[in-house]
Amino acid sequence: MSRPSIAALASHAAQGQRLVMVTCYDYASARIIDRTSIPLVLVGDSLGMVSQGGDSTLHVTVDDIVYHTRAVVRGATHQLVVADLPFMSYATEAMALTNAARLLAEGGAQSVKLEGGVTVAPTVRRLVELGIPVMGHLGFTPQSVNLIGTRVQAKTAPAATALLRDALALQAAGAWAIVLELVPRELAAAVTARLDIPTIGIGAGPDCDGEVQVWHDVLGLYDDFVPRHTKRYRTLSADIAEALEELAADVRSGSFPEAQNYSSVDPDVIAQAVAALEA
Ligand code: KIV
Repeated sequence: MSRPSIAALASHAAQGQRLVMVTCYDYASARIIDRTSIPLVLVGDSLGMVSQGGDSTLHVTVDDIVYHTRAVVRGATHQLVVADLPFMSYATEAMALTNAARLLAEGGAQSVKLEGGVTVAPTVRRLVELGIPVMGHLGFTPQSVNLIGTRVQAKTAPAATALLRDALALQAAGAWAIVLELVPRELAAAVTARLDIPTIGIGAGPDCDGEVQVWHDVLGLYDDFVPRHTKRYRTLSADIAEALEELAADVRSGSFPEAQNYSSVDPDVIAQAVAALEA
């Protein structure tokens, strides 16, 4: 098992190799990612929506993230695994330390991710001082959905200045990378140009140092909704439903299971068993 180090990822980004990150929430999917060249996996609190069916990420708990991270870490053995600190789990520095330690020590992640800029920078600094790598997250920050709605952020000059300050504060505090979600391309480019650490975009254009996408979005596990920031590479929900209908038809017609799917014993064995039961 060899996972990329943060230093290796930073050096790849510095050499112009774009970083690819995909979300993952379970062992089977992690095993598939493990067969690819993708170096970064995010156990995102988006699991509250795509895996648990919620309408936001706010109900996701630290226990949920620990549980899913454990499964992902077992399957994704060649990736650096980043786990999200969920809503309110880093409201105080003490909470952040306790919960981030759980994601690393119990979950097995190699980094945590948290949302926010200047206001969380002191917490980021403390985590990093204690040996916990931190990825930042700016722009559309889903844990603030009730304040900011679901829309492109920082479209005015003052808001863009604030986001630039947030990014610089995270970098100064020791964050090793920053996710930029739903910000205008030009702002993502300006942030990326001013930082020494990599930016990883989602709905932020092509000028970031990398891109993160949600597993269910790119693979088409929900065919009723494709976010604008996603490119859907497959429609697996259709393939899976088709396969399940084939299974149902085979079971109903009796063509499955077949001889190779089960074992047999000499009928005398069963005859003796029935006789013993009836004796
Ligand atoms: O939780 C998540 O999946 C995320 C990505 C969208 C960046 O934070």
